[in-house]
Amino acid sequence: MRQQIIVDVDTGIDDSLALLYLLASPDAEIVGIAATAGNVSAKQVAANNLAWLDLCRAPDIEVALGASAPLAIPLRTTEDTHGPQGIGYAELPESTRALSDRTAAQMWVDLARAHPGRLLGLCTGPLTNLALALRIEPELPRLLRRLVIMGGSFNHPGNTTPTNEWNVHVDPEAAKAVFDAFGAAPARPIVCALDITETIEMRPHHLRQLAERTGSVELVAESDPPGTRSVAPNPIVRHISDAVRFYFEFHRHYDQGYLAHMHDPFAAAVALDPALAELRPATVDVELTGTLTRATTVADWAGMWGREPNADIVIGTDPALFFDRLVTRVGDLARTLYPASEAR
Ligand code: RIB
Ligand code: CA
Repeated sequence: MRQQIIVDVDTGIDDSLALLYLLASPDAEIVGIAATAGNVSAKQVAANNLAWLDLCRAPDIEVALGASAPLAIPLRTTEDTHGPQGIGYAELPESTRALSDRTAAQMWVDLARAHPGRLLGLCTGPLTNLALALRIEPELPRLLRRLVIMGGSFNHPGNTTPTNEWNVHVDPEAAKAVFDAFGAAPARPIVCALDITETIEMRPHHLRQLAERTGSVELVAESDPPGTRSVAPNPIVRHISDAVRFYFEFHRHYDQGYLAHMHDPFAAAVALDPALAELRPATVDVELTGTLTRATTVADWAGMWGREPNADIVIGTDPALFFDRLVTRVGDLARTLYPASEAR
């Protein structure tokens, strides 16, 4: 059965893999894509989303432009992490597809109202537009079947400050609004935080395996000169390789190894199949006024605050199983769309 899903992304290299994973998944139907400012501007995120839809020869899926800035603070982007356009070294042709004429927040609300209790929601960027949607429709948590969030860090260091994670760092007010509101949801949001997503380490052999499913060879080596471009004949493999290589180089620059944390496609995989994740309920809140700790997500695992749990936090998974699914699904999509005879 195809699960209908609203995807809210700040595309981004790993957001791109999340979109490809969902487009490649027979059990998923993307009903709308919200372009949220984060890794790069909302307009660039939207352009990236449209370009990936073109490359994947996807149907006419709505892409709605999100707010240009977070709820309460100026936008901070991170081109050093995701590249000048947010997709690493990949250079995708500009799409001619039209953006939706409604905002990302309005799209969230309209789609949820049109399909009450049936849609999954997946957020892999800052929660700005979901928070704006809650201001339009406070009943949104009850109108969605389930929400999955990539964000936060609990018993684990941050990746943006010592204690906070990028998506929450960009818009902590929005994150707090979402966690506060979704305590009323019939099913607690699933939260994929850095504790787990930093165990989802893509390495060069995963790109090789991806190419092998399309009948070609893709050798990405740590010794390659920075910025080396892929010559894989399959365009999906080629552009993924160019995008992820930038991420490999970024993680190496910060002494994390020649690897790339696949935060967002992991959250997408969990959204389609929560059985991939071991979950533990907790009450999550977001620090807004701490001098050193602003935008830190705090989990009360033991009910010390006397508040009902509002999140199911992922505390365990099998990264190898996830990568098997990612490589198989995206590799098969790439081979189907661009058979070896046609690829170039
Ligand atoms: O902290 C990791 C998250 O921030 C990922 O979603 C990545 O794409 C960035 O948005
Ligand atoms: Ca993201």
